[in-house]
Amino acid sequence: MTETNTTLLDAKDNTLKGWLQHRLSDERYQHSLGAQKKAFEIAQNFKLTPVECEKAAIAGLLHDCAKLMSPNALIEACNQMNLPITDEDKISPQTLHPFVGAEWVRQELGIADEEILNAIRYHTTGRQGMSTVEKVVYIADKIEENTRNPLYTQKITALFNFKDPNTLDKVCLYILDSTITFLIEKRQVIHTRTIEARNDLVNQLKEQRHLVNKQ
Ligand SMILES: [Fe+2]
Ligand SMILES: [Fe+2]
Repeated sequence: MTETNTTLLDAKDNTLKGWLQHRLSDERYQHSLGAQKKAFEIAQNFKLTPVECEKAAIAGLLHDCAKLMSPNALIEACNQMNLPITDEDKISPQTLHPFVGAEWVRQELGIADEEILNAIRYHTTGRQGMSTVEKVVYIADKIEENTRNPLYTQKITALFNFKDPNTLDKVCLYILDSTITFLIEKRQVIHTRTIEARNDLVNQLKEQRHLVNKQ
């Protein structure tokens, strides 16, 4: 990377951080910085392209920009922005913060890249057919090192095998399974997208095993 590029990237990064910082508590801002760092690190370790690494870092930084909004404010913002609200969202409106956040990022920062916006939109529930950048941001959010439980981070990090092309799927599946188990234990609603994301990964990994066995 040339010096000019580094300077430009730093300038962009500082602009995004300035925009983000006054929307969040200090703890949530530290979580965002941690997610940015972790997303970039995972993307690099899995040899994503430089553009994908940058997208993962930007989405990691901005993913929780609407996290501090109250349930009523989220529903109101969705109505104003014409964002759909499902019955499950009405039960737990916090699942709307990624969608409101992505819309802010699009409208206020002028970021139109759908891969970045989707990584923000689906960082909480996951979804069927996640892109590689979406998976990286989904994982980074759960294991960043500034605010997340270090034992959980260590447990997930131990699952990474950078030589296994299916590792991101396996790690996402592990996190989805533990999230679903947690929600069942707490007798809470599981968002349909979370179940769809989980089933999709189970099927994909089954297909991969099938292909390997056939060789
Ligand atoms: Fe979030
Ligand atoms: Fe987060």
